[in-house]
Amino acid sequence: MSHQLALVVDFGGQYTQLIVRRMRELGVYSEMVPWMQAEARIRETRPQGVILSGGPKSVLEEGAPTLDVRVLEGIPTLGICYGQQFLAHSLGGRVEKSKDREYGRRELENVAEGSLAGRLSLPTVWMSHGDRVEAPPPGFSVTATTPSCPVAAMENEAAMKWGVQFHPEVSHTPGGRGLLESFVVRAGFARDWTTGAFIEETVEAIRTQVGDGTVLCGVSGGVDSTVAAALLARALGDRVTCAFVDHGLMRLNESEQVIETFQRHIPAKFVPIDARSRFLEALRGVTEPEQKRKIIGAEFVKCFEEHADELAGCDFLAQGTLYPDVIESGSPTAAKIKTHHNVGGLPDWMRLQVIEPLKWLFKDEVREVGRALGLPDEMVDREPFPGPGLAVRILGEITEERIRITQEADAIFREEIRAQGHKPGIWQSYAALLDVRSVGVMGDERTYEQPIVLRAVQSEDAMTASAYPFPFEFLDHVAHRIVNEVDGVNRVLYDLTSKPPATIEWE
Ligand code: XMP
Repeated sequence: MSHQLALVVDFGGQYTQLIVRRMRELGVYSEMVPWMQAEARIRETRPQGVILSGGPKSVLEEGAPTLDVRVLEGIPTLGICYGQQFLAHSLGGRVEKSKDREYGRRELENVAEGSLAGRLSLPTVWMSHGDRVEAPPPGFSVTATTPSCPVAAMENEAAMKWGVQFHPEVSHTPGGRGLLESFVVRAGFARDWTTGAFIEETVEAIRTQVGDGTVLCGVSGGVDSTVAAALLARALGDRVTCAFVDHGLMRLNESEQVIETFQRHIPAKFVPIDARSRFLEALRGVTEPEQKRKIIGAEFVKCFEEHADELAGCDFLAQGTLYPDVIESGSPTAAKIKTHHNVGGLPDWMRLQVIEPLKWLFKDEVREVGRALGLPDEMVDREPFPGPGLAVRILGEITEERIRITQEADAIFREEIRAQGHKPGIWQSYAALLDVRSVGVMGDERTYEQPIVLRAVQSEDAMTASAYPFPFEFLDHVAHRIVNEVDGVNRVLYDLTSKPPATIEWE
């Protein structure tokens, strides 16, 4: 990427990825680098600014994460938590082990006007540290304190070095954006990271990488593969072939929507593969979750094999890798390892060169790109949906009848979520069908039917999640509608469990 770079050095903090996201929200292209690789990356990229993250270690410990501070000379640098302690320790200040850990919300005091800390819109900040800076390095002034932290913020404007003991990147520091924005301004960033610029550059990069070649793009109807397909189509037109396998385990009417969206909005070749009866047949009588997943994976491959005449001959295979996958794999090059791993079960002709047009983006940025490419809201705002689809939401055997029940209940739940304005706060929401029966009474008749479980969670990244706090009246209303409108259901439950200990999906 040719944008000015804010390099975030990861000292092992739990919020490091958030710093990267916040910088990008401020229009600054940002990447994360593990501290061991930081010196080399700084020399190589000459970033416009560096942010040193928090971390669980003590700078006073043997083997603590470190780097040669001289590499930061002349580069505007913000140290956060461990990052501030590192700056203080390595520039001649004094860091001491404190007896107690300071953790939670604090009010800043003695905030110096005109300082970076002075740009917080509220003095409430989030602290999470053991050690603390007792005395700043020569040339630095203390710009905020708390009763238990003599240097809650420090700075040396002339040397372009700033430090804060608290975490401006987390939502518990409500005015943190102002502080980061002030760093962006003082560091002289042009704020040139925009959706439009990303699209232009990526389209160029795709054309360079693919040359006269062609690309095969497997699409699921999910946001990532759809946006990847739209970007590829913008760059290469009908030299892109999008293959969509309809396994019959989508939400109500969703396959039709996917087919319609692709035909209307994405000027690539589109190959829909109707595999509904094949998947149903393969899954008949299967109840064990892992076995369901394996069968579904194998059926996908068979579908591609059967359509080899339309799909073979492509030079590249598009993958919807996102930046968090790249970070998780350790470094930008490590994503390839994951790719090999993913294509392990594919036929030989599908082991193509890989193209990953979204690998620098976070999920919310992917949505922005989709919108800018003219994809409709219902596509761009789609929730994450598991590859095996309703198979992991229908416990027990998968039959046409049980798919119908799940789809209808799910459609009512999500219609009400949208109608009553709950959608913005929800990460995923769905109805699952359990494989037990219970007794009920309806119109004076005994019923013996299956229960639906409603699940809606709040989450930032699907790694952790908590149940969405619907008002009781809302759940009551949805439960009434489902029992009355969906044949075969006589009870509705709401899943209150967070992740961990539960997972988002039931299987
Ligand atoms: P869990 O259930 O593990 O899910 O909390 C975390 C996220 O992953 C999605 N998920 C899947 N996605 N294939 C997928 O492509 C799968 O087999 C699968 N299982 C779970 C889930 O919807 C959630 O977003």
